[in-house]
Amino acid sequence: MLAKGARPVGAADEATAAVAVRQMFESIAPKYDLLNHVLSANVDRLWWRRAARRFKDVLVRPEAAVLDICCGTGDLTMALLKLRPRGATPILAGDFARAMLRRGAEKFGPKDSRGSADESASDAPYAVAIEADALHLPLRGESLDLIVTAFGFRNLANYEAGLKEFYRVLKPGGQLGILEFSEPGGLIGKAYGVYFRRVLPAIGRAICGKDGAYNYLPISVGNFPPPDAMVEMMRRAGFEQCAWQPYTFGIAGLYTAMRPTVV
Ligand SMILES: C[S@@+](CC[C@H](N)C(=O)[O-])C[C@H]1O[C@@H](n2cnc3c(N)ncnc32)[C@H](O)[C@@H]1O
Repeated sequence: MLAKGARPVGAADEATAAVAVRQMFESIAPKYDLLNHVLSANVDRLWWRRAARRFKDVLVRPEAAVLDICCGTGDLTMALLKLRPRGATPILAGDFARAMLRRGAEKFGPKDSRGSADESASDAPYAVAIEADALHLPLRGESLDLIVTAFGFRNLANYEAGLKEFYRVLKPGGQLGILEFSEPGGLIGKAYGVYFRRVLPAIGRAICGKDGAYNYLPISVGNFPPPDAMVEMMRRAGFEQCAWQPYTFGIAGLYTAMRPTVV
């Protein structure tokens, strides 16, 4: 049976799962960037850039309303900002773990141009941090042109509820992009499985000094619906043009969809 949502060890229901996920990210926030780059050998940077480029058509429109939800320490947000024009409406960058969001805001927040020799800094694109739960976004219905999320969706306590909430806040014709890990098949999948289940948690433990978070990562990827089931779930939530584009042999991939213009 497909998992309804993330269930960290010991979490009996959606509410306790969400609390456990938030606490986990609060606790690893200081080491999160270092761990990410070490564990992925910096391939994560390519994934964020590639995902951002997929939505270039929306991002180049200065008035486009864009949300990066589960933004964490903001690396996808930074990749999105690179494609925004000067003076563009700020991107909204949301997360429910304050310690992650604070680190993100240091990277993507508005730069103070006072006293700076670089006057152009004043209209440089930036993002606004919002402390928000992806399942209960503090946003009006039909208000966004684009929602993107990287490696956060898998952690939601209820995937269908997450898609429903994304659908609610997207304008008709609005785009959705979900970058997530997956489990490739074949020989590559076997080799990667050994790295993911054995090597990665051990490195995570060594750098972080904590057990839970990097044991949770492979378990959460294993429990996440495979691409065809996830695409079907997006369709059931009312989206159209639902698709999955594998990245790096299918270790990760980008789910894309659109809220229909007419229902
Ligand atoms: C693995 S990190 C990914 C961060 C960033 N997007 C990246 O690509 O590095 C997952 C993030 O999702 C956030 N998150 C998980 N569930 C959430 C929810 N229900 N609402 C908001 N943020 C959530 C966590 O706090 C964490 O910062």
